[in-house]
Amino acid sequence: MLTRLVTREDAEYLFKWRNDPHTIAMSLNSMPVTWNEHINWLQHALNDERKLLILCYLKNSAPVGFVRFDVHYHYAEVSINLNPRCRGKGFAKRCLTAALERFKKEFQSSTLIKARIKVENEASKRLFTGVGFLYLRTQNDIAFFTLDLSAYSKI
Ligand SMILES: CC(C)(COP(=O)(O)OP(=O)(O)OC[C@H]1O[C@@H](n2cnc3c(N)ncnc32)[C@H](O)[C@@H]1OP(=O)(O)O)[C@@H](O)C(=O)NCCC(=O)NCCS
Repeated sequence: MLTRLVTREDAEYLFKWRNDPHTIAMSLNSMPVTWNEHINWLQHALNDERKLLILCYLKNSAPVGFVRFDVHYHYAEVSINLNPRCRGKGFAKRCLTAALERFKKEFQSSTLIKARIKVENEASKRLFTGVGFLYLRTQNDIAFFTLDLSAYSKI
């Protein structure tokens, strides 16, 4: 799986993936976004050095997935959204692993990664534990997971 940084030119399909019904159902913010909201968010995110927006793709194929890191003082939070056409095909694990590798190179000082996942999102919970995240707790139907990148040798 290859990775590159997201650009403004990626806006259109990121918008489609964001408003995909399954994505909305599994998002912590379960509301569709308008095109203007999306563009404003993307513009700010691209100019924000505390965000890392990664596009995962395969050579000569449509983009496979989007992985976002929000970097905070003591940790970074990760979330993933796969191209709806690429779901259920075994790409998610490769995307998340490649994105974590990229994050590790770009933010060497930030090693604690957190993920918040809706309890009913079985595929995502299995994905994150599958790449080494540890389950912490569940609160208000949100499951919390964590990964210490510095202690994780496969990445
Ligand atoms: C979450 C997401 C990235 C997972 O990608 P995917 O291609 O759908 O997932 P996969 O088919 O690879 O499934 C991941 C794992 O969960 C398992 N799984 C899938 N559906 C499952 C279910 N209903 N119950 C239990 N396990 C399930 C798969 O068998 C796989 O396990 P394995 O690797 O041990 O075989 C993708 O569904 C997505 O983009 N969803 C919308 C956004 C989202 O939910 N993001 C997560 C919030 S951080």
